[in-house]
Amino acid sequence: MKIFVGITGASGSLYGIRIAQELLKKGDEVYLCISEAGEMVVKEELGLVSDNIIDEIIDKYFNSIRKPIFLKPGQLNSAPASGSSNFDIVFVAPCSVSTLSNIAYGTSRNLIHRAADVALKERKKLILLIRETPLSIVHIKAMLEAASAGAVILPASPAFYTNPSKIDDLVDFIVGKALDVAGIENNLYRRYKTN
Ligand SMILES: Cc1cc2nc3c(=O)[nH]c(=O)nc-3n(C[C@H](O)[C@H](O)[C@H](O)COP(=O)(O)O)c2cc1C
Repeated sequence: MKIFVGITGASGSLYGIRIAQELLKKGDEVYLCISEAGEMVVKEELGLVSDNIIDEIIDKYFNSIRKPIFLKPGQLNSAPASGSSNFDIVFVAPCSVSTLSNIAYGTSRNLIHRAADVALKERKKLILLIRETPLSIVHIKAMLEAASAGAVILPASPAFYTNPSKIDDLVDFIVGKALDVAGIENNLYRRYKTN
């Protein structure tokens, strides 16, 4: 499958990285784009230090597996910007409320907004891992607009019934749920069983 993953400037950049890792392991063609604000948050959260954060991300997270195709947010002439490229799924993980609004109201200002816009118009899967708290009415209305247009709103709020013991457990829970709604088999989290 051909899959686009956008990482925006909301907290939780590991969600996008983990989704890309899992898809690459499964053999999918993965395009990864980090917004300008996303770069700032990625640096802070992942402790990146060099000027070339893409190389550092590849080194740290995609060293022993296939690499994603990295695109810049300004590359509006790249494949994911066109419906004719026929992408199967678009994940925005994490999705800031700013990007959410751009998607909800069709104001495509960068490649992540545009790839999401294309997914909606082409009736493809669009999964938005929203991360903000608390939410204003503006955010809630934008979520309703995006959901009405066909997006899946997947709040990045992990459950605790899985007894997480480390950050990776929390990340894998959300990533597992995101892959579930995309219809991608995974075993990333312990599923709830009644006694
Ligand atoms: C360290 C840091 C954490 C942030 N966390 C969030 C967040 O969790 N959710 C959010 O919507 N915005 C968050 N922001 C603000 C966004 O980065 C900002 O609104 C930005 O304009 C979003 O742009 P983008 O959607 O193009 O990435 C954060 C900013 C910084 C610097």
